[in-house]
Amino acid sequence: MSSPKSLLIRRARIILPNGELMVGDVLTRDRQIVEVAPEIPQTTLVTEVDAEGLTLLPGVIDPQVHFREPGLEHKEDLFTASCACAKGGVTSFLEMPNTRPLTTTQQALDDKLERASHKSLVNYGFFIGATAENLPDLLLAKPTPGIKVFMGSMHGQLLIDGETTLEAIFAKGDRLIAVHAEDQARINQRRQEFANIHDPAVHSQIQDDRAALLATQLALKLSQKYQRRLHILHLSTALEADLLRQEKPSWVTAEVTPQHLLLNTSAYKEIGTLAQMNPPLRSPHDNEVLWQALRDGVIDFIATDHAPHTLEEKAQEYPNTPSGMPGVETSLALMLTAAMQGKCTVAQVVNWMSKAVAVAYGIPNKGAIAPGYDADLVLVDLNTYHPVRREELLTKCHWSPFEGWNLIGWAKTTIVGGEIVYDKGQVNTQVRGQALTFL
Ligand code: DOR
Repeated sequence: MSSPKSLLIRRARIILPNGELMVGDVLTRDRQIVEVAPEIPQTTLVTEVDAEGLTLLPGVIDPQVHFREPGLEHKEDLFTASCACAKGGVTSFLEMPNTRPLTTTQQALDDKLERASHKSLVNYGFFIGATAENLPDLLLAKPTPGIKVFMGSMHGQLLIDGETTLEAIFAKGDRLIAVHAEDQARINQRRQEFANIHDPAVHSQIQDDRAALLATQLALKLSQKYQRRLHILHLSTALEADLLRQEKPSWVTAEVTPQHLLLNTSAYKEIGTLAQMNPPLRSPHDNEVLWQALRDGVIDFIATDHAPHTLEEKAQEYPNTPSGMPGVETSLALMLTAAMQGKCTVAQVVNWMSKAVAVAYGIPNKGAIAPGYDADLVLVDLNTYHPVRREELLTKCHWSPFEGWNLIGWAKTTIVGGEIVYDKGQVNTQVRGQALTFL
């Protein structure tokens, strides 16, 4: 595969910024889209991509992933994870701070940016993690999409389970705070009540919907008190969706994962601890309420919370098993399959997986197919079903909770900064993404 400076994508079904579909051509030059038109005259020095029958979308921006580097590279690293992104149509990611060392200082943030510049095939940004002691770092660290606060489901320095510490973070500064909202006190208490049960299904009872609601209520209260930009990560319950439907200030956003939309507690019977994540899977009723909240704009966008663990780690006995599941390779196809089934439209998927994320995090020039926007694009096939197969996965953990699911809308070609990074099953490992900037 070559690394062209200019691409001419021909005869694609283009999803335009207004959501309408146009069959036509897209010309890119020097990392940017320069022209979108029904027919662009052929010029020399361009590489042509025949997109007949394929649909062209802005590349996916996944705003919550755990890529494990540095320190936990036996699960995943920035190279393997970004290959998985390329295959999944994900052209940018925002990564979480629970690596080793934790991303809680400018130095640790710089180290990740440096590593990504050498290893990541797609564009990257890294959250700064809040501890009880690093308020100065939270105010000054850059570039970062925001401050990650674990209100629960975490141990060690990254756990902020006291209201006083949490309030100090909300009170100072104005950058975005992204919360993992689960109430640790309630989880601790219920862990004792359900001790000695090894069925992983109990995970959803221990970290129940009330634990999620309590934390989301507290985060909302503080956000309102200080008018502080708040993002609620992986919203998982009908209770929280109903709360946001009643009171959601204009400066608050929320996301949901494909697994909280598409899986529920029945998954424990089928895939056991592979279904264990935080916040846990909920009921079919929660699935439906989350879908409705997403369609109604109560929930703003989609994130995968890609959190790989090895099969050996997942094979231990609950509760010794780690929580989390991979997602970047399957998220777009899962959502487009849902669109084909009538749950939503393709234009909504584009908004939830690209445009709305760029807007919420202030990422300039991404999330639309229009002149001046970055040439981060994905050509998907909305005609052919193909199952999720373990042996085809590129994530280092080599499993998916969706194995066997027959999906449509797989990426055929993924383009990062005008370069083809994935094409018909082949990853171009020479391509490198860039550090994202945040307004
Ligand atoms: O299930 C989860 N796993 N949720 C998180 O928030 C953290 C993640 C991890 O890092 O494994």
